[in-house]
Amino acid sequence: MDWDALIRPELAPMVAYAPGLRASQVRERSGRDRIHKLSSNENPYGPVPAALEAMQAVLPRLNVYSDGAAAALRRRLGEHLGVDPAYVVVSNGSNELLRIIAQCVLDPEDECVFPWPSFVVYPMVTQLMGATAVRVPLAEGDVHDLDAMLAAITERTKLLFLCNPNNPTGTIYTKSAFDAFLAQVPEDVLIVIDEAYFEYVCSDEYPNGLDYFSADGRIVVLRTFSKIYSLAGARVGYGVMPPALVDAVGKVREPFNVNTVGQIGAYYSLSDGAEVERRRRENQEQKTYLYSCFDRLGISYVPSETNFVWVHTKKPVEVFEALLSEGVIIRDFGAASALRVGIGSPEDTDATVAAFEAVVAKLGSL
Ligand SMILES: Cc1ncc(COP(=O)(O)O)c(C=O)c1O
Repeated sequence: MDWDALIRPELAPMVAYAPGLRASQVRERSGRDRIHKLSSNENPYGPVPAALEAMQAVLPRLNVYSDGAAAALRRRLGEHLGVDPAYVVVSNGSNELLRIIAQCVLDPEDECVFPWPSFVVYPMVTQLMGATAVRVPLAEGDVHDLDAMLAAITERTKLLFLCNPNNPTGTIYTKSAFDAFLAQVPEDVLIVIDEAYFEYVCSDEYPNGLDYFSADGRIVVLRTFSKIYSLAGARVGYGVMPPALVDAVGKVREPFNVNTVGQIGAYYSLSDGAEVERRRRENQEQKTYLYSCFDRLGISYVPSETNFVWVHTKKPVEVFEALLSEGVIIRDFGAASALRVGIGSPEDTDATVAAFEAVVAKLGSL
C-alpha cells in the first residue's frame, strides 16, 4: 500500500493533539505518591452529587443507544440558558463541535482566522479541511488583538474563532472592545465564540456571547461540561447556533454522538447552581492566593478569568521539568516562553506554591 498516496495530503503537516501528562506517568518518573495534575484545566471536585448518582443509576441501561436527539438535555439547556432548544446542539465535548463546524463551512480555498496562542484545535480543524489557518498574535498583555483580527479578514475568510476567556492565557476581551469589533466584521463571516471557561469568569467587563446570539445572526457560542462541571471524561459540550447551522451540523455529526452517561450527567449538573458558584468562588480565592505567592517569588504572570494562570518564564523547559520532579504537572507549550499552571483544590495550590518555591531555590529567577 502506498500510504502517502492514500492518506489525504492535508493531513501531512498536521500534528496530533498531545494531551498533558497523566498522573500515573509522572508518579513513575518522580517517585512521588501524591501527584498534582494541573495540566488539562480539569476541575478537582468531580461531578456534582446529583449528576454522579444519576450517572451511576443509568449504567444498567447502557444496552440501548443514547437519545440521538439528546432531547431532554437540550430542553434543559434551553431553560438554563434562556434560549429556544431548537438552537442548542450537544456534542461529544465541545471539541467535536469545533471540528463539525469546520467540516460544515470550510473549503480548501477558505481562510479561518483565530488568535494565537489559543486553543490548539482551531488550527487542527482548519488544516483538516485543507483551508488556511490565519493565526493572529495576541496583543500586549496576552489579550486578543481584535484590531489585528479585523485586519486579517479577507474576502476568503469564512470562519473566525474567538476564545473568551482565552486558553492558554486566561485573558478576556471586554464588552466594549467586542461591540466595536462586531460592528466591523463582514456579515458573511461566521463567528464562533468558544466559552469553555465561561462559568469561571468573574469580571464585569466580560461579554456573555449569548447576549449577542440571534437566530438570524451569524454568531455561535460553544460551552462545555468538561470544566467547572467536572465531566471531562464523560465528553459533553454544546453550542447555540442559528437554525441553518443546526441543520448542517445534524447532517455531519455521528448518530448518537453523545453517550447516555454524559447526557444524564450534564442534565443533572445543571441542577446544582450553588455548587457551581462555590467552585467559581473557591477558584477565584486560589488564584488570588497564588498571585500573592508569585509576587513574593518574583514570578511574572497574567491575571486570569479561568482556572489556569499563564506564567512567563525564560526557562520553560527547566521550570516544567523541575515542577514535575516536585510532583506538579503543568502544561508547556513547546517554544513559548510561558507555561500554563492549572488551579485545583486548595491542597493543589499549596503544593504548587511549595513546588515553585523549590524551583526558584534551584533555578534562581525564572
Ligand atoms: C478553549 C477550549 N475550547 C474547547 C475545549 C474542549 O473541551 P471539551 O471537548 O472537553 O468540551 C477546551 C478544552 O480544554 C478548551 O480549552
